[in-house]
Parts: sequence; structure tokens; C-alpha cells
Amino acid sequence: MRIDVIATADEVKDQMVKGKLAVVIDVLRATSTIVTALSNGCKGVIPVCDVDQAKAKACELDPEQCLLGGERNAVIIEGFHHGNSPLEYTAERVQNKYVIITTTNGTRAIHHAKEAVDIVIASFLNGQAVVQYIHKNYLEDITIICAGTEGHFSLEDILCAGKIIYELKSLGNDISLNDLGIAAENLYKHNKDDMHQLLQGTFHYSRLISLNFEKDVEFCMQQDVFQLVPIFIDGIISITNIKAKNKLM
Ligand code: MLT
Repeated sequence: MRIDVIATADEVKDQMVKGKLAVVIDVLRATSTIVTALSNGCKGVIPVCDVDQAKAKACELDPEQCLLGGERNAVIIEGFHHGNSPLEYTAERVQNKYVIITTTNGTRAIHHAKEAVDIVIASFLNGQAVVQYIHKNYLEDITIICAGTEGHFSLEDILCAGKIIYELKSLGNDISLNDLGIAAENLYKHNKDDMHQLLQGTFHYSRLISLNFEKDVEFCMQQDVFQLVPIFIDGIISITNIKAKNKLM
């Protein structure tokens, strides 16, 4: 198995994902929020790149059945129902509803993966489920796309990529890696028991804490609390617990 890790959404080119499985990670907070909404009974998450697209999409859906969510500069967008805090996406709010979401980096990263065979949404919250899914369904090329923050890599995304690589190797998979994949695996291996210590002072982690989102940070850094694998197909992210749409074996 070959795994390449890409540091930011902006670096993704079609040929890096074409014919492969893409795993998209934005730990703080877009993919953690998507995973949480789906685990709380949301019918599907529709990721879009900008605010106007989100509003246009909302006009196509039954207003009783859809919520607008997302952020710019980490805070809720004016006129939207929710921001980008996973803690807002409770069962009471999202059950049986669609969530249309736009975030600065995470939703762009998902769309940049559009040429992939399958697109899986990953975070620390569902890391183990994603690892099991890959282990059972894929033997070939995988690209892990770390969303990053405003064009720069974010250490928490690289750590999460490292978790996926480390745990796939622990299951006996023979994996070749690009340089960032090797760095990610080692970063996770040596810091998995105290990730907060490593992330102190990193840009987005510190920014969220300074904006009083420390509970979000705590929440998003939990490992393996949701056993679900969200897949992005035809413009919508929904849950699969079964085998891949297109096996690459
Ligand atoms: C993003 O997509 O840029 C992030 O999820 C930002 C945030 O934490 O709100």
C-alpha cells in the first residue's frame, strides 16, 4: 500500500488523487464537526466552498429539513444557524436534517479531492473506524489530504494523518510513504499519549483557545469515540459502515 500525505488543501492537484482513495482531515474543526453531526443523526452534510453557494443550496431544500453551518475566521457566519463547533451539532438540532456547511479550509479540501475514487472524512474522533475501513477495503494508493489553515500546514492534521498510518501499520499493512507521511507517523508515535502538550503554541489550536473554544479543542482531540466512516458522494457526505463503493483491490 502506498500512502502520500499532503500538507494543505491548496497543494492538492487532480493527479494526486485520481484513481485513489482520498482521506480528508481537518481536526480543528471541520471534519470533527461533520463526523459529530452525522453521529448525532444528521441525514447528510453538504460541504460547499463559499457562503453564497451555501445560501443557494439552502434555497433548494425544505427549510424545515436543513441547517446552515460554518465559519469564517473561526466564528459563525451572519445569518447561519450554527458555527463550526462540533458541540453545537447535537442530536436535538441535527437529527433527520441536512447540514449545509462552509468552512475556510475543510470544505475546500473535500472539494479538492473530487477526482478520487472515494473520499472519506476523518478526524481523531473516528480515526479507528477509518483505519478499519481502509484495512478491509483498500490495498492500493491512498492520499491523505490535511486541510491546513489558510495555506499553511496545521500540526494537528499531520498528527491525525500519523495516527491513520501508525494504526494501519499496527494491523500488519506494508506501507510505503512520502516524506510527510514518515514525519506524520513518527510525530504521532512519539506524542500520541499527550497530543495537547505538542500542540501548545501552534497557530490554529492557540487561536481557538483564545476565542474561548477550548471545549471544542478538547472534544476534537478525543480519539476513537465514533465508529463511523463518512463518505462524500455526489455532493453529500453520509455514513457508510460497509464496504467501499469502488474497491481498489
Ligand atoms: C476550517 O475549515 O478552516 C476550520 O475548520 C476552521 C475552524 O476551526 O473553524
